[in-house]
This record gives sequence, C-alpha cells and structure tokens, in this order.
Amino acid sequence: MAAELMEMEEIRPLATKQVGSIRLEVFEDEQTVGEAAARFLLAQIAEKPHSVFLLPTGRTPLIMYTRLAEKVGSVDLSGVQTFNLDEFYGIPSDHSGNYRSYMQRELFSRVTIPAANIHLLNSAAPDALAECQHYENQLTAAGVDLAVLGIGTNGHIGFNEPGSSFQSRTRPVTIRPETRQANKFLFNDRLDAVPETAITVGIASILQARRILLLATGSGKQQALAGMLYGQVTEVLPASALQTHADVVVFTDKAAAETVL
Ligand code: F6R
Repeated sequence: MAAELMEMEEIRPLATKQVGSIRLEVFEDEQTVGEAAARFLLAQIAEKPHSVFLLPTGRTPLIMYTRLAEKVGSVDLSGVQTFNLDEFYGIPSDHSGNYRSYMQRELFSRVTIPAANIHLLNSAAPDALAECQHYENQLTAAGVDLAVLGIGTNGHIGFNEPGSSFQSRTRPVTIRPETRQANKFLFNDRLDAVPETAITVGIASILQARRILLLATGSGKQQALAGMLYGQVTEVLPASALQTHADVVVFTDKAAAETVL
C-alpha cells in the first residue's frame, strides 16, 4: 500500500495558505481536487487500516470516489468503517435519490468494505429520533479518524443549515429551499420530489473527528469558503465552526479559491 502510494506521480497544490488552524491547498481544477482527496483517504488508510471515516455525498466528492475506487487496487479495506454525514428523511430506503443509493453507486459497489462496517442513516426509519440516537451512539463509540466534508453555498456542512447549534448532535432537520434546489439532480431534476426533511450528524459530532478534510470546488462556493476561513465564528455560517477545530485541511480548485488567497 505504501508502495502503491509512492509510485504515484506527485501532485502539488498551486498554492497553500495557513489560516489559523486551517490549511488551505489550492489545486488547478476539480479533477485534481478529487485526485488529491482520494490520495488523502488512501494515506489515512495506510497510516491506520482500521480508520473510521465520516463521508459526504453531493456533487463535489464524485471525482474523489471514482479515483479512490480506481486506486484502491489490492488495498485491504476490511478494517475500514464508514459513516455518512446525512440522509433525506421520509422516502423509501431503496429510493434511487437517497444518499444510501448514492453511496452504493459511487463507492460501495466499486470497493470491498464489509457490510457490517458501513453505517448509513435510514431514510424510512419509522422513528426518526430513535434512528438519530442509535446513529449518534454508534458514531461516538467508533470515534471518527477523518471527516470528509463538502460545503453548501449557504455555508452548511452535512445538513446543518444556517442557525444550527454548534452543540448539535445527530438529529432531524428541515432542508432549506436553496439546499433542496442543489439536490434536485438526484431526483431527475424535480424540485418537488426532493424531501423537505433530513437527518444529519450534528456540528458537535463532526467536530469530534480527529481530522477534517473539506472539499470546495467551483465559483459558487467562493463566498461560503471566504466566510468559513476569515469570517466570524457564528452559527449563521455553520462551516465557520471548523475554525475551532485543531486539524482541518481544505482542498479547493482555483475557481472556489479566487477570493481567499
Ligand atoms: C452531503 C453534505 C452536504 C454537501 C453540500 C455541498 O452529504 O454533507 O453538506 O457536502 O451540500 O454539496 P455539493 O457537493 O453538491 O455542492
């Protein structure tokens, strides 16, 4: 595994910047961000084969999952555990638009992780609160080594929309209109099909991860990224909570980083 990593041609960021405890690395484009992120995950597994990951869905990590699946080769993933950050609520658990289906398509169908090590929220759980409590307990007991995050244009992380408490744990939430809009690609571009509620791992739960990697690509993320790095630490911009964590790395492309360098 270490050998496989060393054989890869090195990819260097175009620029790096330390902002408080957050290390920003800017890459050429979203392809390079995805490649760098996949390598970051592989390096984590090389360092600790029993790593626990907290993983995102959305458009941004698609390339990371593809590159990871291509590279994983003979790497033994039998010790890896995964948790997902969030899930829609109130749609069948086998609905093609939910995050369980996304993860199955983008990662779990392409790599071999034991089913018992994969933790997903149930979009059809009969009791949402019980589902949240159970998931939070499992997550806390496992202890996350690396949380990989995207960021919403309004600064959300997971489905922790603006106004979410920094003390929040896994809980049911209402999805903001702009976030439903951003997710309609999973529902054949039908906004009315995107659920209005979800379950998300909370901000306090995310901050318990030993290490956090946030990915941001495209000019639409400029404002949220700038606020996260340089703005006030405020519940109005959930991602600003990352300023209080000791070990955060942010990978962006040039388009997202234009205003933050
Ligand atoms: C999804 C998640 C969200 C996304 C965010 C950005 O699991 O955690 O916070 O990371 O909405 O989404 P994209 O990547 O589609 O721009």
